[in-house]
Amino acid sequence: MIRRTWQAAMIGLARSATAKRFMQSARATSFLRDKYVAGADISAGSARAVALIKGHGIRSSLFFMGEYVDDPALVAETVGHKLTAAEALAAADLDIHVSVDPTQIGQVVTPDEVEGHARTIAGRIGALAGNRQGVHCLMLDMEDASVTDVTIALHDTLQDAGLPVALTLQAYRRRTWDDMVRQVERGSRIRLVKGAFAAGPDLAFQTQREIKANSRRLIDLMLSSEARERGFYPIIATHDTALHEHAIAAARHNGWEPGTYEFEMLLGVREDVARDLAARGERVRLYVPFGRDWWPHAVRRIGENPRNAVLLARSLVT
Ligand code: FDA
Repeated sequence: MIRRTWQAAMIGLARSATAKRFMQSARATSFLRDKYVAGADISAGSARAVALIKGHGIRSSLFFMGEYVDDPALVAETVGHKLTAAEALAAADLDIHVSVDPTQIGQVVTPDEVEGHARTIAGRIGALAGNRQGVHCLMLDMEDASVTDVTIALHDTLQDAGLPVALTLQAYRRRTWDDMVRQVERGSRIRLVKGAFAAGPDLAFQTQREIKANSRRLIDLMLSSEARERGFYPIIATHDTALHEHAIAAARHNGWEPGTYEFEMLLGVREDVARDLAARGERVRLYVPFGRDWWPHAVRRIGENPRNAVLLARSLVT
């Protein structure tokens, strides 16, 4: 209950334009930016991706920040940054893996153009990937419940067109079991997260206990023998070490070799755990945000754990 109230308050702060303007201009908050964000531009993003692979064998998904973008000019600029990210990753000979929120490429302001923008980005990734080894894709993030259907439909359309695309599904949503069954049948690449948005009890599990139980059930489906036979690619995106061990046990039991599935975590959150998994031979990726619009991303991270209140307090008093 405390956790949900805290998370809802931080989601409110993430969406507040006034808080964003204030926090992004305040020098005192810069340590939050430095904790969760690689830097202001693509050179900082790709430099961090290179350092992660060279230092720890950890792959990256680059994310140019921004969410719920309501200015068409900014949508166009964001698409440009996603393309630049793909090119920088290709130039550095890394996985061409770019995460995108549908609301940053027009879902709010020009919904008819979202598919075209997503096709442009995925098409460029596919062209740059050519025959290179690696995991190359446009990864669709999943936002609040109002855009779930359109995000899944977008994924399916791009996938049917043969473009390199992957999709995020959230364990807190009650519908996700059915969505996951469909995606396993399609042999998709799916990133499972717990969910960083709020939704009522009709749509979503409300307690951590229920969300964890659903995560375990979904992981069992994603790492089943049937999913492996269908060419499904599971991505377990959590900092929850009990879920990591659950996934590894399911993988071993059902004949998945390390490297045929992956773990993904966020830059700045429990990176020691990511390094440990990589050292054990698991395929690990970090979500590496870059750009100037860092406040919504950082405050969502604060919202993930009431104990992070101390970080927010520190940013306000220093
Ligand atoms: P949980 O919150 O239970 O944390 C597990 C452990 O990690 C705990 O010990 C906790 O203290 C610690 N921890 C977690 N977050 C922390 C933090 N910020 N700071 C310090 N410690 C922390 N959500 C969404 O709705 N749509 C999306 O598209 C995505 N995309 C996405 C990509 C990737 C790669 C990740 C890892 C996560 C997302 N998320 C997301 C966010 C996700 O839904 C969820 O909010 C966070 O991952 C936190 O949940 P955990 O599974 O880590 O578990």
